[in-house]
Amino acid sequence: MGQGEEKPEEITQETRLAALRQAFKERFGLLPQFISRAPGRVNLIGEHTDYNGGFVFPVAINRTVLMAVAGPEEGAPVGQVRIISKDYDKEAVFNLNQLDKAPEAERWTNYVRGVAWALGQRGLLAPGSLPGARILLESNVPQGAGLSSSAALEIATALALFRLAGFPASAVNRPQVALACQLAENGFVGANTGIMDQFISALGRTDSALLIDTRSLDYRAVPLGFADRSLKLIAVNSAVPHRHDASGYNQRRAECEEAAKFLANFYGKPADSQLRDFNLEELLGVEDKLAPVPFKRARHVITEDARTLKAVELLEGGFANPADLATFGRLLGQSHESMRDDFEITVPQVDLLVELAWNLPGVIGARMTGGGFGGCTVNVVETASVEDFREKVLLEYRQQTGLDAKMYIFDAVEGGTILE
Ligand code: GLA
Repeated sequence: MGQGEEKPEEITQETRLAALRQAFKERFGLLPQFISRAPGRVNLIGEHTDYNGGFVFPVAINRTVLMAVAGPEEGAPVGQVRIISKDYDKEAVFNLNQLDKAPEAERWTNYVRGVAWALGQRGLLAPGSLPGARILLESNVPQGAGLSSSAALEIATALALFRLAGFPASAVNRPQVALACQLAENGFVGANTGIMDQFISALGRTDSALLIDTRSLDYRAVPLGFADRSLKLIAVNSAVPHRHDASGYNQRRAECEEAAKFLANFYGKPADSQLRDFNLEELLGVEDKLAPVPFKRARHVITEDARTLKAVELLEGGFANPADLATFGRLLGQSHESMRDDFEITVPQVDLLVELAWNLPGVIGARMTGGGFGGCTVNVVETASVEDFREKVLLEYRQQTGLDAKMYIFDAVEGGTILE
């Protein structure tokens, strides 16, 4: 195993599950009733389009949150949740009948509290009707990397609560669950994020990416066929931590809304129109009237939607023409340039990772993925070039920044599940 790589396959899910069951028994004195599992994600293309009613094309990855669960201990107050984080070696207690934000030292429980609260708000499940729970939590989704470790925790929590309430997994409406988990993020945790991360964590498909229409929530699985094509999906973590609430994420969102409002007003469209409702020509028609910053933000979103649909078309067409794979890669490259120059959410280190990748043979495409301001790049690389990629990108990055990047080779996996 090369330096800087973390191999998800090294510890199999079976080994993790067995260790988690054992740890649960040691902590709580009994085996868990079930384990809820939900994946992180990497987005292939379609960035910052999901709160503009647009299209995204993410993949659920083989890095997951595992949540081992049993009912409450005997004699515990009704609704009590005792939760332990295996990774932080921390314990907290809260009650489903009083879902307040956690004190600072227990911040890590806010996603769990927030999901219980949001399921109640959306009328999907009354958290107060549950007897309570004992939970042991473990995750191998890298945190602060822009790989949606929090969405994975949210979806694992939601599925666990439904299971505790006696719903079979097949009775759970997953798009509704994703919406509730987004509400937990927006209304409880306080990050104004879109629907992509929760949706893919709940609905991901093996060996596929999902094209999601984030307005209608229509979606379809598009097989990647990477194994047949001798391609690998690789993420490189810049080691520059990404955080929604500390970043300009909410500001970007406001700038997009400002542009949409201006366009709606100018073209006499409904006041609740989103950037999704406008094409590039219409945007260019207001170039000298709309302020430069919202104009650039809108140009990113509108062109990104078009790139996403084009990329999906090429993939679904099986890269029928010899040039199609390269065109697909170029769309990824253009997406990065647009995020860098128009949306201004990349940092120099992430730009460098993308540039280093593009300079190597066997790289089909590379771009930043996720919310931005640090985090990961996503790369599509020919299998035969992976070793070279690893060595050169990580080494050169270290020499130029002094930072240790980490590389992950991902498989596309299914969304959240309950393991009995
Ligand atoms: C974060 C958000 C998503 C999406 C991406 C950018 O991951 O949680 O909703 O907006 O950023 O595409």
